[in-house]
Amino acid sequence: MIKIKPLITEFFNQYTYDDIEKYIELGGFSGLRNAIKGGREFPINELKLADLKGRGGAEFPAWRKWDAAKKRTDSLKLILCNADEGEPGSFKDRDLLSRDPYKVIEGMIIAAYSTGAEKGYIYIREEYAYIREHFIVACDKARQAGYLGDDILNAGFSFDIKVNIGAGAYICGENTALIESMQGRVGRPRLKPPRVGEKGLFGLPTMVNNVETFVCATTVLMHGSDVYTRQGTEISKGNKVISLSGKIKNPGTYEIPFGVSLNEILYDLGGGSKTGEPIKFVQTGGASGPIIPASQFDLKYAYEDFKASDFIMGAGSIVVADESVGVIDYLIAIEEFFKHESCGKCTPCREGLSHIVKILHKMADKTATQKDMDKLLRVSEVMVNASFCGLGETAPTSLLSAIKYFGDELYLNIKKEEA
Ligand SMILES: Cc1cc2nc3c(=O)[nH]c(=O)nc-3n(C[C@H](O)[C@H](O)[C@H](O)COP(=O)(O)O)c2cc1C
Ligand code: SF4
Repeated sequence: MIKIKPLITEFFNQYTYDDIEKYIELGGFSGLRNAIKGGREFPINELKLADLKGRGGAEFPAWRKWDAAKKRTDSLKLILCNADEGEPGSFKDRDLLSRDPYKVIEGMIIAAYSTGAEKGYIYIREEYAYIREHFIVACDKARQAGYLGDDILNAGFSFDIKVNIGAGAYICGENTALIESMQGRVGRPRLKPPRVGEKGLFGLPTMVNNVETFVCATTVLMHGSDVYTRQGTEISKGNKVISLSGKIKNPGTYEIPFGVSLNEILYDLGGGSKTGEPIKFVQTGGASGPIIPASQFDLKYAYEDFKASDFIMGAGSIVVADESVGVIDYLIAIEEFFKHESCGKCTPCREGLSHIVKILHKMADKTATQKDMDKLLRVSEVMVNASFCGLGETAPTSLLSAIKYFGDELYLNIKKEEA
């Protein structure tokens, strides 16, 4: 049985968004006070000791980003919280924002103190309308209590947060597309460099982190990196918040220590299949992640184990499919999603997805041939290597892993070529 000591989600169900007093009573803003006591370098060192990796999917060490932002000498720097959460199957940021909004706010304030940023923005997914309204109230309460605004806690720094509405497209979760859309332009990725840390929103240096990254930063500063790293593995330290969904008895948001197995997640927490049909595979990391067959469920949920097996955990979603789910039907749903969400800027992704979807439909109709399969692999390879951004690069991931692990099922649908 998994032993869990919640740290990241420790305040879930203990207060409501408009009750800042209760948050403070629970220990809220002690992370900020610890940060101020330790000085501007202290939070960065703590994040380094905790080895906190960005929770938006790219696993970039948070301390490196914070350190780079701190070292910039520009007169105005920005903090941006990415709460776009458009990845299918991912809803942990929604729960972090709605069930513990002050930990997000506190993390952004700690980041501002440490890096010297004066303005903060949070870009909240368009569909999360009620959360946005509640988050605005939480920011007002924090302002009234002196945690936002001028000379916060008399520590000689000022910071405030503005709430923005997402543009309603999956691609707007990508940093540069997100910033383009915030400036009133079409939400499409732009060329890098310059990276957003150098030239981001309104041309100013902008440090972007995911919701969970800010919440983890607050947690590390509240408890100390030594307590935070008591859970997890040598390389994947601490805990992770995951979104479990699909054909599973107990779907939901869970905090788990890194290092537990997929079996433990699916059966101890998830309660197993909800239909009685055996679980056939899971997809981790959202639509852009791999398909992992049941034979691999001993795999540990940790960066190092996933990397060794060529899997990714992305933002932490796990979608469960049972034996009633056909792999081709599943792939069609995924690739149709990407085709719909592709911004169309670059040819490999725009054209590649049209080809992939067409061939998958031919497979479903049993009219696809070996030539189609060859084309599928060729197009996927071009997309992975030549797409302009992460959407196109990762859109074929599920397909390629399905060919590896469910090749027999896929090839049953391939028509023998006539001589
Ligand atoms: C197509 C696409 C969609 C993305 N969507 C999100 C998202 O919804 N939320 C998020 O935090 N990061 C998303 N990212 C990753 C961000 O570009 C960025 O790496 C992340 O916000 C950085 O925060 P972190 O370092 O804390 O992980 C997306 C990336 C791509 C390529
Ligand atoms: S890879 Fe896809 S989403 Fe990204 S820029 Fe190219 S067309 Fe747009």
